[in-house]
Amino acid sequence: MAAGLPDFGRRRIAAACAGVWLAMPALPLALAGRAAWAQEDKPFSPFITTPSNTVMRMLSIASVGKDDHVIDLGSGDGRIPITAALKFGASGAGVDLDARLVELSNRNAAEAGVAARVRFERGDVFAADVRKATVVTLYMLPPIIQGLRPVLLRQLRPGSRIVSHDFPFEGWRADATETFFAPEKNNGRGGDSTVFLYVVPAEVHGRWALTLTGTSPEDLPQGSLELRLLQVNQILDAEVSVGREILEARDARLAGDRLRFATVLPVRAGGPPAMPWQFDGRVEGETMSGVARNHRGAEVRWQARRTARR
Ligand SMILES: C[S@@+](CC[C@H](N)C(=O)[O-])C[C@H]1O[C@@H](n2cnc3c(N)ncnc32)[C@H](O)[C@@H]1O
Repeated sequence: MAAGLPDFGRRRIAAACAGVWLAMPALPLALAGRAAWAQEDKPFSPFITTPSNTVMRMLSIASVGKDDHVIDLGSGDGRIPITAALKFGASGAGVDLDARLVELSNRNAAEAGVAARVRFERGDVFAADVRKATVVTLYMLPPIIQGLRPVLLRQLRPGSRIVSHDFPFEGWRADATETFFAPEKNNGRGGDSTVFLYVVPAEVHGRWALTLTGTSPEDLPQGSLELRLLQVNQILDAEVSVGREILEARDARLAGDRLRFATVLPVRAGGPPAMPWQFDGRVEGETMSGVARNHRGAEVRWQARRTARR
């Protein structure tokens, strides 16, 4: 992406790489943040910047690209959305309680030449509108992270990514975690950063009526199929039943709105023996659909409709 930028853009990328962020006046702004907190009595994380190599890792682990909209909650000096725009071609936004940090961030965005794609606003993260975000980034203390979780899950679409620096969500296993050395940490003395990636899962818990339609009728199972999904965050357990017979289902996985599981289905009397089928599909609210394949190469389409949420 650097190759397509005009000269001023290249210079700014080089400057960002050289760690211009280090030169930012962190301490007075941290005090300003505390003053805002004291005035407004809101849950608060102090202003401490994410090191520049950690910013890059956060955006890389979330596979940020030009179609992404990156919102940093508690955006400090704006470095995360600005880097997302400058180095990954994304658009972005930030929200911070501290008006001086918001002003600084908008100035930083203008100086970096990305003000048309990145905006910062003053606000409380708990009231933030993140519906446009495909990626949300966080560097906040655990009580804020925990409190934000329902706010984020209510607003973000399945498949959106949340990346948190150093503080994980309690009770939600990260989809990926990386720990590495960040030379700028601890006021330049260096230290480890950990980044946690969470992919927002579709909400699929419950019972689903499953139908198969395809080109190889002799392979299709007989009777009405029910899929039962037990979901805790992105962790899934699946069970398939045909009439009263409960079948084993294996390897159930949910990645955003993509669902996968395998099961052995019985077939018509006199047809081929029962065989394993691999189901892949996409969830859209109360319906899902996709393709199931068996090892003989047969392929059928499947649809499911939720019949109960328990
Ligand atoms: C640890 S700093 C992170 C700054 C930036 N995201 C980064 O990673 O470099 C936390 C920021 O969150 C802001 N903040 C704390 N509590 C907030 C709240 N309830 N709503 C909005 N901003 C908040 C602070 O002013 C501070 O700038």
